[in-house]
Amino acid sequence: MKETTILDKRFREMIPGEIINRRIDDMAEQINRDYAGKDVVFLGILNGAFLFAAELFKRVNLKARISFVKLASYEGTKSSGSVKELIGWNEDIKGMPVIVIEDIVDTGHTLELIVGELKVRKVANIKIATLLYKPKAYTKKIPLDYVGFEIPNDFVVGFGLDYDGYGRNLPSVYTLIKQ
Ligand code: IMP
Ligand code: MG
Repeated sequence: MKETTILDKRFREMIPGEIINRRIDDMAEQINRDYAGKDVVFLGILNGAFLFAAELFKRVNLKARISFVKLASYEGTKSSGSVKELIGWNEDIKGMPVIVIEDIVDTGHTLELIVGELKVRKVANIKIATLLYKPKAYTKKIPLDYVGFEIPNDFVVGFGLDYDGYGRNLPSVYTLIKQ
């Protein structure tokens, strides 16, 4: 079992990088099929989704643009539940099909806010692609269209996800070892 320390905590490898990359191949293939012939905008949610967004986007063979917005709702290992920041939105997305790219959907607060903003901007339709999904934590009704992995309601890091800013560069997803 691969383990690693980040700051004061121990983490154990949960999803190896090779498995993640293979899953992203499948997700991109499905998106390429679903959007064949369409012009589409991908919208990555910073910071966590930057790595997944890059890996997914380089596998997309559509006429596509990508843009990023930033929202922060997390401090340490517990969701604060309130979203604090929103920056970005320099892309003209009115009337466009949009695929939101998330690293993880936890409570869904972040997602709900993003989807609300997209509706105000009168996009053609919205689909959600997320690398990780915690079904036990999800409190919203927004359907998730492309889900990489469903995971337990535990704190994870790696592949873009952080613990107090660290661990984003781990090529696998690691889960917190509870003491
Ligand atoms: P939500 O708004 O509760 O769905 O949380 C979404 C955001 O919280 C994600 O985009 C992540 O940045 C962060 N987050 C949620 N769960 C975790 C986790 O287990 N590890 C690291 N970040 C997380
Ligand atoms: Mg995030």
